[in-house]
Amino acid sequence: MKNILISGVSRGLGLEITKSLLKKENICVYGFSRAKTKEFEFLKEKNPEKLKWMSYDMSNISDIRNKIFKEFIGLKTPLHGFVNNAAISYDDIITNLNYEPLLKMYKINVFGPMMITKHVIRQFLLHNVKGSIVHVSSISAHTGYKGLAMYASSKGALEAFSKNSAREWGERGIRSNSLVAGFMETDMSSTLSVDQKNRIFKRTSMKVPTTKRSVSETIIFLLSESAESITGQNIHVDSGTI
Ligand SMILES: NC(=O)c1ccc[n+]([C@@H]2O[C@H](COP(=O)([O-])OP(=O)(O)OC[C@H]3O[C@@H](n4cnc5c(N)ncnc54)[C@H](OP(=O)(O)O)[C@@H]3O)[C@@H](O)[C@H]2O)c1
Repeated sequence: MKNILISGVSRGLGLEITKSLLKKENICVYGFSRAKTKEFEFLKEKNPEKLKWMSYDMSNISDIRNKIFKEFIGLKTPLHGFVNNAAISYDDIITNLNYEPLLKMYKINVFGPMMITKHVIRQFLLHNVKGSIVHVSSISAHTGYKGLAMYASSKGALEAFSKNSAREWGERGIRSNSLVAGFMETDMSSTLSVDQKNRIFKRTSMKVPTTKRSVSETIIFLLSESAESITGQNIHVDSGTI
């Protein structure tokens, strides 16, 4: 049985990754988010053994080891993968930047995931597992969009962390990659106006949103042994934003 930890499983991309993983044999998903959605509850009812969930707020950094690793997963359970998916966006122009919302976003998008990664790698080492980590990044870290500087900077930090994790732990067979996603239709992007969305699509080769399916299938590939030689990379799934 392969055990995969995923943050932000209740909706959007996290839910899509969870659904696709559960279709595979011998996979158990340990997921967390602050709340459950109806769709997630339905999925959980259908997969009582293969899908485990706990309510956890990523911004609560000091409880990560106790709550997620000791109580939820259990230190005796080998972990094989981690998908760092949960994130929030703090969108505004830089001249309006305030420290409190910036700190809140960094706790959820960067500091929490970094601390989780620490314990994920320890768990890989404890059980001698050649595990795979995938951080979900955003095309905004590469191209630049007005109003997304703070959010994009949090994803840039993750990409650098991922690359360095790959270098630090590669000799133990542990891999780390960033999945650079283009604009997807989810709750996170629902606050954008039609005009803003159109401006984003215009910069893609395909002129369409990136599908959750394409992103989640690539993440599942990166988690798998078929991707055994891929580490330290930024893999773009972004409808060709070149
Ligand atoms: N949508 C896009 O266009 C787009 C583009 C590029 C990259 N991305 C990235 O893709 C990933 C998924 O985004 P999405 O669009 O699926 O977002 P979403 O629809 O807003 O879903 C976010 C998920 O994260 C969870 N979450 C949020 N805050 C949390 C917290 N404090 N603690 C624990 N869980 C938390 C949410 O559950 P609860 O609210 O119940 O906690 C939810 O399950 C993110 O990393 C995002 O940055 C998105």
